[in-house]
Amino acid sequence: MLAENTLLPARFEHVPLAVFAHSPAASCAAAAEVAGLIRARRGEGRTVVLGLATGSTPVSFYAELVRLHREERLSFTNVITFNLDEYRGLPADHPQSYGWFMRRHLFDHIDLPEPQIHLLDGSVPDAAVDAHCREYEEKIRAAGGIDFQMLGIGRNGHIGFNEPGSARGSRTRLVTLDPLTRRDAAGDFGGEEHTPRCAITMGIGTILEARRIVLMAWGRHKAGPVRAAVEGEITAQVPASFLQEHEHVQFVLDHAAAGALTRYRTPWVAGAREYQGRAWDPRVTRRVAAPASDLH
Ligand code: PGA
Repeated sequence: MLAENTLLPARFEHVPLAVFAHSPAASCAAAAEVAGLIRARRGEGRTVVLGLATGSTPVSFYAELVRLHREERLSFTNVITFNLDEYRGLPADHPQSYGWFMRRHLFDHIDLPEPQIHLLDGSVPDAAVDAHCREYEEKIRAAGGIDFQMLGIGRNGHIGFNEPGSARGSRTRLVTLDPLTRRDAAGDFGGEEHTPRCAITMGIGTILEARRIVLMAWGRHKAGPVRAAVEGEITAQVPASFLQEHEHVQFVLDHAAAGALTRYRTPWVAGAREYQGRAWDPRVTRRVAAPASDLH
């Protein structure tokens, strides 16, 4: 994936990045990569397995996949999908369920055969949850594993619903949602008191087995967790930091979400300007007021 401003990795960063001025261009680049993969596999007579995310972040990515289908004849008949997570207690036809989200933003608009869609079921009875999670993992394995996993990042650094404290080896399971996650979702449910307390999510171990992982993040409110995941130590307190261990991961960011990275915040610390991929900008020096202790 080529960034608008192709950047060489700075020494502070532990994951490759592609930084774009705006999220639509970033989404188009990510969708182009997926489209290329789908077409290449079709040429080989093979299927491709996509791991899909929900939330506000991937909306423009799905819109671009739909456009590619309608205008550039991208077919999804050789695609198999697995969604990352689902709220506990919501039936698949609940308007706030992730199943519903996927239909509205992608599945209803493309030629992906229904049997090739896999969603976690938030409404399975308590006694059946563990078996449901094991079966999901088994279906991923039977499909040959995930070729391309799309991710967003929560303000607390979560991936899927793997909240802070989630283990590196965690698998698909029932989880309790972090208060910040519930607060961020409250608007969709008409208040925190109506927001689900639990969810079912693929585990971090499940996610890390994908052959390619792309995490997308837009906006200033993601700049803190992005910095922690990209520049910080690997810790269960920032589940996205486990992605540093993946060999084929990329973070796709807009300028706002990248804004707290050392290369932008204090570019003179990050190294020679040619390694930062953008011309020296005197406005940056005026913006910065970081204490030296923050830079190590
Ligand atoms: P968002 O959520 O795309 O709605 O910001 C991302 C996430 O929580 O993973």
